[in-house]
Amino acid sequence: MTGFRRDAQDAAVLGTQRLAQVIRDAEVELPAYVYDVDGMTETLRSLRQAFGDAPHLVAYAIKANSAGTVVRAFAAEGAGVDAVSGAEVELALACGVPAKQIVMSGVAKTDAEIDLALSKGILAIQSESVEELTRVLERARATGQRADVSLRLNPGIEIDSHAHIATGHDEAKFGISESDLAAAYAVIDGSDGRLSQVGLSVHLGSMMTSTEAYGSSARKLCSLARERRPQAPQLKYIDFGGGFGIDYGGAPAESPADFAHVAVRALRDAGLPDLTIVVEPGRSLVAPFGVVVARVVQTKQSAPRRWVMIDAGMNDLIRPALYSAKHRIEQLDTAPQAPEWRVVGPVCESSDDFGGHALGPSPSGLVAIRDAGAYGYVMASEYNGRALPSEVFLKGGKIVSVSRTPGRAAWIDRRLKA
Ligand code: LLP
Repeated sequence: MTGFRRDAQDAAVLGTQRLAQVIRDAEVELPAYVYDVDGMTETLRSLRQAFGDAPHLVAYAIKANSAGTVVRAFAAEGAGVDAVSGAEVELALACGVPAKQIVMSGVAKTDAEIDLALSKGILAIQSESVEELTRVLERARATGQRADVSLRLNPGIEIDSHAHIATGHDEAKFGISESDLAAAYAVIDGSDGRLSQVGLSVHLGSMMTSTEAYGSSARKLCSLARERRPQAPQLKYIDFGGGFGIDYGGAPAESPADFAHVAVRALRDAGLPDLTIVVEPGRSLVAPFGVVVARVVQTKQSAPRRWVMIDAGMNDLIRPALYSAKHRIEQLDTAPQAPEWRVVGPVCESSDDFGGHALGPSPSGLVAIRDAGAYGYVMASEYNGRALPSEVFLKGGKIVSVSRTPGRAAWIDRRLKA
């Protein structure tokens, strides 16, 4: 059993553990993220199986959840990493991800980050502009190295998602437009072998619930790779990107395996089955397997309104405030039941609002904010003098690690020194 569910007594369970018991056993301060690491690795495994015998690399988008326990578990299952900063590259390496399974994306890599990527010998720097490619060449010359690069195409494809997380359309800052590809090829071909194009990449954006746009982009990428191959014999992979959506309770999403099948088919249809398929999923591997456990501080009623104030806020989970995302909130000891309450956090912002949830006649005790395993803790802040949340990791029916909140004293201390 993986993910969030209710047992026969209606108690909230994550993986195989009752959440209320986990919080007691871990002795952590709330709010606390709790993760079912087995659920994450099982999802990774079934994604990998979906590739069949096609050569592939799942480059986990480590930005989604960068906890060492998670990254080490994925590394042990053969995953690579898609990193978007020097720190993420270093973290991945420290977690045991082989350098040749790390790609580095990002629109504004600094010289220091490019140098780091070159010195560690990662699979490829995924270049997002002709200007950046030229800088990679300069850094390779300056440090006397060769650089393996991939070009991230911006295919000009709109996806049906929140504007803040769509990246593959014409107005996005990401990627090289098709009309600039020739200029990028010219930089590589004129580099006296300093730059070697090992890949062609794309990432359309996040939270795609259907494979349609992914398929169009995959076919475009494959046809570009076919045209380019005679001049780029080192080309060894096509990176179709991540962005596989999940069901947050509102609408079903196609599975990661469905996206994998689309990539395999596109490559076979293009007659390129020897190339390695790279995918960069983040959310779909981790989101359903994390919850935030918080405590009801109080209720407030002012006809006709009904609020529940909890001790987790937008600083702990910013997705509702930033993207109007709805995360289901449930009491730990009773299943959802009417009436609905507006659940809000303690932060002094109107956007610190988790929306309406059926918390029963008299909400109290502990609640779980569901599907918070991706882009949760990693986007947390200390706004309003609120300490970063705690984290608890479950594996094999046991708590395997706990990361305690640094606490408010740490915040006060740092502010005093500023
Ligand atoms: N590859 C690249 C280059 C990316 O920029 C991203 C995510 C991914 C892969 C992974 O996408 P995923 O499979 O996780 O959808 N904070 C937002 C999501 C931002 C995604 C940023 N890039 C959220 O909470 O919804």
